[in-house]
Amino acid sequence: MAQMIRPMVAGNWKMNGSRASLDELALMSTGFTPALRQKLDIMICPPATLVLAASQRAVGIGIAIGGQDCHANDAGAHTGDLSAGMLFDAGATAVIVGHSERRADHGESDATVGAKAEAARRNALIAIVCVGETRADREAGKTLAVVRRQLKGSIPDHMTSRDLVVAYEPVWAIGTGLTPTAADVADVHAMIRQDLRRIVGKEEAEKVRILYGGSVKPSNAKELMLVPNVNGALVGGASLKALDLLGIVAAYA
Ligand code: 13P
Repeated sequence: MAQMIRPMVAGNWKMNGSRASLDELALMSTGFTPALRQKLDIMICPPATLVLAASQRAVGIGIAIGGQDCHANDAGAHTGDLSAGMLFDAGATAVIVGHSERRADHGESDATVGAKAEAARRNALIAIVCVGETRADREAGKTLAVVRRQLKGSIPDHMTSRDLVVAYEPVWAIGTGLTPTAADVADVHAMIRQDLRRIVGKEEAEKVRILYGGSVKPSNAKELMLVPNVNGALVGGASLKALDLLGIVAAYA
């Protein structure tokens, strides 16, 4: 059942941070008490330049490291891109795919995102597949339809709860300080769980973590994390500083 799912708070540093920022990892680890460690996972997804160093710094401190994107292919002539295998080699255990900023800035389609999720799985990484409607979609009453289309197109059907995490991130809530109501989040997450049953099968669907993302901060984390079918958070701005991230993690204390 959904209540048994081990939550995850994942930080997406986006295009922020330098080697000095990695000092935050040790601070995060210090506040990640044994009691909290029993309850949830923490992951940080720094920019690609920092994945190797972050993984080295994270050894033995209980924080997992992930990438922010990968190519769908394992190798080849793709200047500037990174493969899932390279992220694995650098110590990542997961990769975000289909973030709305990738979908918007790089024109990524559902099929592209699905191929990236598959590349992650093939290379022993957890794929954190992002979905979420724009403000225009929401105002047109298309939230559920858009999210359902993205789920269907972006998640290969043989994925399991071991290699898949879904993140619902309404585009209009990202970096704006705005969040949907708890009731709206509950509706979308219940629908995601329902659709996952069809995509990955009933048994796996009950175990897949569904994260909420978009302006999560210490002051609203508890309310959002208590919503049924919310199994953690994907955090942008508030994941850059250990104190803020720990304030969010405290929702599980
Ligand atoms: P913010 O938490 O800064 O709104 O970003 C959310 C996000 O996009 C995480 O992937």
